[in-house]
Amino acid sequence: MPAISRFYFLTAICFLIAGILIGLKMAIAQDYAAVGAHAHVNLLGWVTMSIFGTYHALNPAGASSRLARIQAYVYVLGVAVMAPALYLLLTGTPAAEPVVAVASITVFAGVLMFAAIIYRTRTA
Ligand code: HEM
Repeated sequence: MPAISRFYFLTAICFLIAGILIGLKMAIAQDYAAVGAHAHVNLLGWVTMSIFGTYHALNPAGASSRLARIQAYVYVLGVAVMAPALYLLLTGTPAAEPVVAVASITVFAGVLMFAAIIYRTRTA
């Protein structure tokens, strides 16, 4: 498995653990204010990062490129900042909104970079 796939799976599993903890907390407290954070941590963190990691494992040709490395850092940084900021925003801290905005744009930039990786990778 390419190093970048391992990096993505090591990161993704942390987001799954965090996402499930938010879900369990909501269920136990019967307070669903954080459902948006729960969904985004699970889907942008666990699901999307696992797909990125799997893509690199299936197409190792581009997995060690500079673009792939930069994309991984940009995307993971964006989700890592967005997740707690979104949680705070949804649970009563409106001051977190600008952080969510900037982090969301960072995540989107990471997705556009991944699109570039897909389009420029030659298949075997
Ligand atoms: C043990 C694991 C999990 C627990 C305890 C849990 C718990 C919850 C709870 C309590 C809600 C709120 C339901 C409501 O608003 O009535 C919810 C919503 C949601 N969960 Fe989870 N969840 C878990 C795993 C996951 C995973 C792995 C994903 C995605 C990969 C996920 C995606 C979602 C989504 C998208 C919603 C929003 C659904 C909607 O608003 O219609 N959850 N979850």
